[in-house]
Amino acid sequence: MTTPAESTTGTTDTTAKCPVNLGDPALLSDPFGGFSRLREQSRVVEAAFPGLDQRFHLVTRYDDVRAVLSDPRFVNNPASVPGSDTVNYRAAFLTQYGVPDDYLPYFVSSVLDTDGADHTRLRKLVSRAFTVRRVNDLRPRVEQITEDLLGALPSHAEDGTVDLMEHFAYPLPITVICELVGVPERHRPQWRDWGRRLVSFGPNADFAGATVEMVDHIHELIRERRAAPGDDLLTGLIRTHDEDGDRLSDRELVTMVISLVIAGHETTAHLIGNGTFALLTHPDQLARLRAEPELAPRAVHELMRWCGPLVQAPRARYATEDVTIGDTTIRRGETVTPMLAAANYDPREFDDPERLDITREPAGRRETHVGFSHGPHYCLGAALARQEGEVAFTALLRRYPGLALAVDPADAERLLMPTMWRLQRLPVRL
Ligand code: HEM
Repeated sequence: MTTPAESTTGTTDTTAKCPVNLGDPALLSDPFGGFSRLREQSRVVEAAFPGLDQRFHLVTRYDDVRAVLSDPRFVNNPASVPGSDTVNYRAAFLTQYGVPDDYLPYFVSSVLDTDGADHTRLRKLVSRAFTVRRVNDLRPRVEQITEDLLGALPSHAEDGTVDLMEHFAYPLPITVICELVGVPERHRPQWRDWGRRLVSFGPNADFAGATVEMVDHIHELIRERRAAPGDDLLTGLIRTHDEDGDRLSDRELVTMVISLVIAGHETTAHLIGNGTFALLTHPDQLARLRAEPELAPRAVHELMRWCGPLVQAPRARYATEDVTIGDTTIRRGETVTPMLAAANYDPREFDDPERLDITREPAGRRETHVGFSHGPHYCLGAALARQEGEVAFTALLRRYPGLALAVDPADAERLLMPTMWRLQRLPVRL
């Protein structure tokens, strides 16, 4: 019988029924390759995470991932499943990691955790701030922040080496999203810390402490902003809340701020980090982008596909009725998790998928990769993230023509987790 660890690297079909160990270091050290191998075993793979009393179903093929993400029989909120016996796995997970009961509602009611009319209502409140047009208006400011950060890089160098994650990849998106939402500059280091703790859950990370501190802090920030309104998204949301509480409850307001600030920087930082690492380890692609900076939008598309930060959709989907995919039936109330990274490497959709090619044409009728998801929860900040990526890569390569990795690529420190693909540090020589 195949062990769970072996199942991540095996190639036979028999492993499909044996739960894959999502904590397996072999899988996590190369989630793109590892989940790609699973994709070839079965349309639906069963998985488990050590210490969590839950079985997951994973879909890994491009067509199945898109189908699940856009199928109305799958929902994000267990309360949308008919009947009352559906377990809220996210709440159970948060409780397991020590989040106190009275703080739980803030973390299970975001725009990502709602369906139907509730989802539309929440998304509409902020979507206008993230349209392509509004994002284009922000471009000069994004360029200015980028130039300021790049100009300061030499002052952070020690022995000729700078950590690009610390001094560029993180500060750029966190500054942009905090300015947009209206988080004062003095609070930004604190958000950076919370973001890090929120995505680093595990025995040693103070995940629960971060959730409590964040909620208390935002209540305080709302009081402050109500007394001294600004010209930002938060002021607009407070106004909506105060004038029309039916459209946005107190708790939803706090949750919205958390979602925007965390989703707006923890992911984009790793698009910049992973993307820079990919370019520095593919000199031909790097040279091409340097020579033809107008390729930047396509390069960002390709980097999102090739090394986008989210290995899986951040929320599993609950089946509202029994749904059969291939030879597996997902029962009502069970979940299925779309594996974005595996779908983005599916040879049924992408020619020679493991090849990084910044000139790759979007494939025919498709909108290409699923790194920003698909369907009703398609990333609200995709246009902003793409723009930040374009500006970051273009300016970085222009300003530092001799940029090089200061570590052996094999020694790059990654945080190994089944959800995200992220570098801890990115030491470079300028
Ligand atoms: C949703 C990825 C940047 C805000 C999502 C989803 C993905 C994603 C995969 C959908 C999750 C699902 O279907 O379960 C990314 C990546 C980013 C990025 C890879 C950067 C490279 C941003 C930025 C913002 C943002 C800059 C700024 C506000 C959101 C929000 C949602 C979302 C609010 C929830 C949308 C909904 O539920 O309707 N993102 N995102 N994201 N993203 Fe992003």
